[in-house]
Amino acid sequence: MALRLLVVVAAVVVVAAASCRAGLADPAVSALPGLPVAGLAVGFYKESCPEVEDLVLAEMRAIVEKDRTLGPAMLRFMFHDCLVRGCDASIMLKSRSNKGEQDALPSYGLRGYEEIEQIKAKVEAACPLTVSCADIIALAARDAVYLSNGPRYAVETGRRDGKVSAKFDADSDLPPPSSNIVDLKTYFSVKGLGWKDLVVLSGSHTIGSAQCSTFASDRLYNFSGKGMQDPSLDKAYAASLREECEPGLKNDTTPVVMDPTSPYEFDLSYYRHVYRDTGLFLSDQALMHDRWTREYVERMAAAASPDEFFADYAVAMTNMGRLEVLTGDSGEIRETCAAYVD
Ligand code: HEM
Ligand SMILES: *[C@@H]1O[C@H](CO)[C@@H](O)[C@H](O)[C@H]1NC(C)=O
Ligand SMILES: *[C@@H]1O[C@H](CO)[C@@H](O)[C@H](O)[C@H]1NC(C)=O
Repeated sequence: MALRLLVVVAAVVVVAAASCRAGLADPAVSALPGLPVAGLAVGFYKESCPEVEDLVLAEMRAIVEKDRTLGPAMLRFMFHDCLVRGCDASIMLKSRSNKGEQDALPSYGLRGYEEIEQIKAKVEAACPLTVSCADIIALAARDAVYLSNGPRYAVETGRRDGKVSAKFDADSDLPPPSSNIVDLKTYFSVKGLGWKDLVVLSGSHTIGSAQCSTFASDRLYNFSGKGMQDPSLDKAYAASLREECEPGLKNDTTPVVMDPTSPYEFDLSYYRHVYRDTGLFLSDQALMHDRWTREYVERMAAAASPDEFFADYAVAMTNMGRLEVLTGDSGEIRETCAAYVD
């Protein structure tokens, strides 16, 4: 008994030591969940621009009131910023030779560029050359969640903006919706995000929509390249999706809501859908193919209150918001978020 305990303790120590060593060699470790990042803090602008969070919220309110589909778009925007070269607003940079992040395949359909610029202009008018675009992206994402009745979690700020944007990075670092669970965990873990971040952040798909071209082939018409429907997809849901997405269209931009029961409510229904085989992407359904992510989906699908999900979401968004950030004297604060890199 004592011996067995000793073996377990020893194993834990070895694992902890190994991750520490990996940490020393790996600069991404500063972004590991739970470890604070020097230079980032909640309320970073409380002296230099105390009104920034109110300004972003007011602008987001106006944006979403005009077009509610922009809320989800602005949430997705932070994912695409942070996973590629870290949360440094590099997604806002433009390339004249079409070699920037915006030109990459995963950026297809991404919206929010003009809205981030619109918010930045308001913030610039109040606090010139003070607030980074990367922070505005993170605050706008939080407010998109809040304005769809999700949590209003505290957002760390203090990021600065990068000057490099490469199509190649976006193509290789963002998971495609056809990803299986092993791929998904790998895409996340190379960034220092774990299975919990994956299953919690995937809950973002409780709001917003996807174009038919992102899932119709995988799920409705050419599952595994076999010219058939995905046999694991709920039959009634598949039938309704087939009505929205015509077969044979290669580039069908028709938007389909990802959570048909409450597409603009930030709630637990994403997990209920995945649990009942009515998740939209292969990557959503893949969360049922790993013991830990499946247990989380099952617990959230059965939960009476969203409190646990909301608390987890705040942590996971903080973890994602810490990825490879530029702080202190690194990077820059630009007057406008968009700038040409070539
Ligand atoms: C886990 C891997 C993920 C994959 C494979 C994935 C894939 C996708 C795809 C293909 C779309 C549809 C885009 C379109 O057709 O316009 C989409 C939409 C969306 N994604 Fe994800 N996503 C992932 C994770 C995330 C994360 C981590 C977040 C946020 C933190 C997020 C937030 C969203 C939102 C809010 C939308 C709706 C956008 C809109 O309505 O304009 N996704 N995602
Ligand atoms: C289905 O996928 C296979 C393999 O990727 C491909 O060869 C085939 O052309 C596809 N069929 C259609 C109808 O797109
Ligand atoms: C899909 O079609 C849209 C316009 O309908 C076009 O702008 C876009 O480049 C196309 N995308 C791909 C990947 O072919």
